[in-house]
Amino acid sequence: MARLSVRLRPFTERDLELFDRFATDPALSEPFEWVGFTPAGRYRKRWEQDGLLGASPYCLAVVTVGGDALVGWVDWQETARPGPGAWEIGVLIVPEMRGRGAGAAAQRLLVEYLFSTTTAFRVWAATEVENVAEQRALERSGFTQEGRLRGTHFRDGRWRDSFVYGIVRDDISGSQPEG
Ligand SMILES: CC(C)(COP(=O)(O)OP(=O)(O)OC[C@H]1O[C@@H](n2cnc3c(N)ncnc32)[C@H](O)[C@@H]1OP(=O)(O)O)[C@@H](O)C(=O)NCCC(=O)NCCS
Repeated sequence: MARLSVRLRPFTERDLELFDRFATDPALSEPFEWVGFTPAGRYRKRWEQDGLLGASPYCLAVVTVGGDALVGWVDWQETARPGPGAWEIGVLIVPEMRGRGAGAAAQRLLVEYLFSTTTAFRVWAATEVENVAEQRALERSGFTQEGRLRGTHFRDGRWRDSFVYGIVRDDISGSQPEG
């Protein structure tokens, strides 16, 4: 299958159907991201207020370059400590578009976007030890595996361990002050 060339852009109203699907259709997020049915329309309300960019979690659509086909989303949020210094990120690519490079590319684009537009020093993600696709995608995006946390994710009836992956500003060349 041909690799996908993707870019990030704000959500439009017609893209919101993807979040409704996420809330009501397990097939979109199984096996790792399905946490049960949630209210459809939740993101629609937020989008009407701030385009999903005014408060944490922030969201951008992942779309194909050229065709502008919606293939998923990335999100990021502040964590309690250290607050504005670090972003935790997440990603979902629709099942029919997986395995074509979009997940890795989207997370790399998000890292570059966050280091370019915010003063954060660190971007990180936690993913279940069984989620090999996300581990490979994070590694391909430049993240380093930093450790294993026990019992962080509850899914399909039991608690599961996760790996933490991180990337810091110094890992990205060209992010140093000019001079
Ligand atoms: C995880 C996810 C974002 C990866 O996106 P993707 O577009 O399918 O992945 P990519 O095509 O960019 O592949 C990235 C790497 O993972 C590997 N990979 C992809 N799917 C894989 C799978 N099912 N098993 C093992 N490796 C896999 C690719 O070969 C590639 O490796 P390489 O860099 O060594 O060539 C996507 O599968 C997804 O949305 N899953 C459901 C939601 C989810 O789990 N999100 C993460 C929550 S923490």
